[in-house]
Amino acid sequence: MADRLGPIEAPPDLALLGPLGPEIAQLFTRPFLVLHRASSLYTARICLLLLFDLGWEGRLRSGTTLDGLCEGLPEQARKPLAWMLPFLAGEGLLRQDGPTFTLVGQPDLDLAGLREAVEIEAPGHGVNFDLLDGVRSHIPPFFTEGKAGEGLLFDLTLFPLWLSYFRNENLGYFPNNLLTFLALRDGLPAGARILELGAGAGSFAQLLGQGSAAEGWLSRIAEYRFTDVAPTFLRRAQRDLKASAPGLPLTFQLLDLNHPLGDQGIAAESLDAIVGINVLHVAQDLEPTLRDLRSRLKPGGRLVIGECLKADLDTPLYLEFFFSFIKSFTEVTLDPHWRPRHGFLTPEVWVSALEHAGFRDIVCVPPPRPLMDRHPNFNAGAISASS
Ligand SMILES: C[S@@+](CC[C@H](N)C(=O)[O-])C[C@H]1O[C@@H](n2cnc3c(N)ncnc32)[C@H](O)[C@@H]1O
Repeated sequence: MADRLGPIEAPPDLALLGPLGPEIAQLFTRPFLVLHRASSLYTARICLLLLFDLGWEGRLRSGTTLDGLCEGLPEQARKPLAWMLPFLAGEGLLRQDGPTFTLVGQPDLDLAGLREAVEIEAPGHGVNFDLLDGVRSHIPPFFTEGKAGEGLLFDLTLFPLWLSYFRNENLGYFPNNLLTFLALRDGLPAGARILELGAGAGSFAQLLGQGSAAEGWLSRIAEYRFTDVAPTFLRRAQRDLKASAPGLPLTFQLLDLNHPLGDQGIAAESLDAIVGINVLHVAQDLEPTLRDLRSRLKPGGRLVIGECLKADLDTPLYLEFFFSFIKSFTEVTLDPHWRPRHGFLTPEVWVSALEHAGFRDIVCVPPPRPLMDRHPNFNAGAISASS
């Protein structure tokens, strides 16, 4: 069955994972590695099938450039297509000759076989693929009618699938939370006041509540302010989190990181830590946002972010597929030095953005190089930076 997936990457050597290596190494189980490989293949196949659904197989067979494919489409189609074509070439589903992309022969587009292989090795993760199927079936009006991706992808049918995705039980998402947990833990003072940005489905708060209790340091947390811009997430967390993160001293607040936090009731120098998992890349203008966050931290307080990371900016990452349709992901202010692209960034770009905003003592968990040079598919990391 595993031969359907091709070679599965070996886990990284412990020596590459830095001082917290023994705790990080637990992520690289066989089910995780299988899921990671299958997710990349499944995303690529869904992506090509989507282009077929849109009626573009003939154009791809004759060979097309990005400009050619975008002709007659709404302008918003360009960014996702600019991502998809090289992604499909990288996955071997299109041939690339300079700017031209061509579909050759009959590529393997079997989805059921990938699901079967994952059900055997990482049972229960088919729901991640349901989400990809849902994107394929919901997104065509983005291209054909210029409808907004947000409305199409976060509707009532897909919302439960997003909730299933952002869970600690999802081996594909858990690394983001675990690495942030490890980065936050060390150096957290007693009586800590912590604010989480974009706390969403609450998976990090759950891990923090349960993990810190199991390790005996939950009592160091005096306040955990759970925030998100979306009232639905906040209401859900208010209902469920007390039971799933028992003992975490929770407060709840609607908060938009694109507006000054001071105007939203967060006093200057009032926090020991600000945490954000997979949210800071949606800051419309990263520089003022990072400076604003820094100003809310007590001296020596820390910003701890968990982010999907790319080994290099030019190689598309399968996780970007969903988000390339979302304006908050793609329409951000760029700067050639510390915000050269929208979306997921390299660890080095994050470090320079944080330094540019005045942060210091920046620590990556795990140290990204040479790990990402040897394992370019390793795509999660946490970064801790002092005010
Ligand atoms: C990729 S999800 C991260 C999910 C979360 N860490 C979890 O485990 O469920 C991003 C979250 O950021 C929130 N978000 C998006 N834009 C935001 C903004 N401008 N300010 C605050 N939160 C935002 C979304 O509502 C969503 O809950």
